[in-house]
Amino acid sequence: MKKTNALERQRSVYVAGAAGVRQMIPFDPDLLEQKAKVKMNPAAWAYVAGGAGLERTMAANRSDFDRHRIVPRMLRNVEERDLSTHYLGQNMASPFFIAPIGVLEMAHPQADLAVAVAAAEWGVPYIFSNQASVPMEQCAAVMGAAPRMFQLYWSRSNDLVLSFLQRAEASGCSALVVTLDTTMLGWRIRDLDLSSLPFLKGMGIAQYTSDPVFQRLLDVPDETPAPRAKVTLDAIGTLFSAARRYPGDFWGNLRSGRAIRAVRTFTRLYSRPNITWADLPFLREHTRLPIILKGIMHPDDARKAMDYGVDGIYVSNHGGRQVDGSASSIAALPSIAEVVREKVPILFDSGVRGGADAFKALALGATAIGIGRPYCYALAIGGQAGVSELLENWLSDFELTMGLAGCKNIEEVRKTQLAHG
Ligand code: FNR
Ligand code: LAC
Repeated sequence: MKKTNALERQRSVYVAGAAGVRQMIPFDPDLLEQKAKVKMNPAAWAYVAGGAGLERTMAANRSDFDRHRIVPRMLRNVEERDLSTHYLGQNMASPFFIAPIGVLEMAHPQADLAVAVAAAEWGVPYIFSNQASVPMEQCAAVMGAAPRMFQLYWSRSNDLVLSFLQRAEASGCSALVVTLDTTMLGWRIRDLDLSSLPFLKGMGIAQYTSDPVFQRLLDVPDETPAPRAKVTLDAIGTLFSAARRYPGDFWGNLRSGRAIRAVRTFTRLYSRPNITWADLPFLREHTRLPIILKGIMHPDDARKAMDYGVDGIYVSNHGGRQVDGSASSIAALPSIAEVVREKVPILFDSGVRGGADAFKALALGATAIGIGRPYCYALAIGGQAGVSELLENWLSDFELTMGLAGCKNIEEVRKTQLAHG
């Protein structure tokens, strides 16, 4: 595993610059977005960069970090800076993790596989998305013993849920992250304006098409009448896209209609908006993995989660993709941390764009910090090397911010009092 050294990273950037060599991944998060946008087609860009409605939640996720200020402390000997931390019974190299992002093939053909290698390189835990473009087994196979988790969308088929759980355990995942805030996709204006949803083209359903239970479900004849789509060039393109992505022979997939059946079965089963707290014990009974609930935004829900004995809380508003005008996740964090009182770890994401944001979230009670869209942009720009460069930059930025604020380790960061207002 590679280890960061912020000063070396900084030096290497400047030394390379003196020789006329520029870095591939922009340091400025807005420039990073702009560079990625050029690499992605309009539908891919809309899907990744967009949020719900007028995207006010997305904006608040970033701007609300400004309500908290770091007050640096001096003369504390910060020569040795230790980023390591410990949660869910595991030693981690840093407090960062890679948040689950579906349909990464929209950013780069190597998709999840490229992210898996880069994550393992730096020992940053990778949460495999339920909507991944590469089956979890293939990602796990390139990660050695590096930490990973599996994110679940609670399907309408419990058999499929159980199969995902078993596969996650067999793939060496150390936790199950159950995403609760996306039982239905939010009203995403950019995608709606392009009338574009990647899943319908067979993208982002690799965990399903690689699953034995899902395969069996495809054998059962579908009773619902097929939607009558006009035969247009776009419709044929969609058919080809699904057949190309489905495992096995392209022409065979076209002829059998199995690829399109897979898409239809996926849309039917994707998730269950009727889940309630009473369903949680079902998961507890069927997996030995720690269970983390993703999408908790209210302290009462955190309290309830604790009552149900969950092993971790994941504060997130899904990067503003679900409810426009919702509270930012950094605003939600302190009152949730107060309820949790360090009894279980708190994972956190949405709007984090660098070391200072991560520092603030840790100081406000988070245990670990999720990198979201920025790694997807780095993937679009430079594949595996791009993600690796981004991770090195983030780790370095955080390390310097921590040291310059007067903290030697994560414990000290977490005890830091921020200024507010
Ligand atoms: C996501 N996110 C997400 N979350 C999840 O639990 N399962 C998933 O499959 C996805 N898919 C997904 C796709 C895309 C394109 C994005 C941008 C996000 C949400 C993700 O895990 C995380 O919560 C947000 O990305 C955090 O917000 P920022 O930091 O990206 O703004
Ligand atoms: C999304 C789902 C896949 O945000 O989580 O698009």
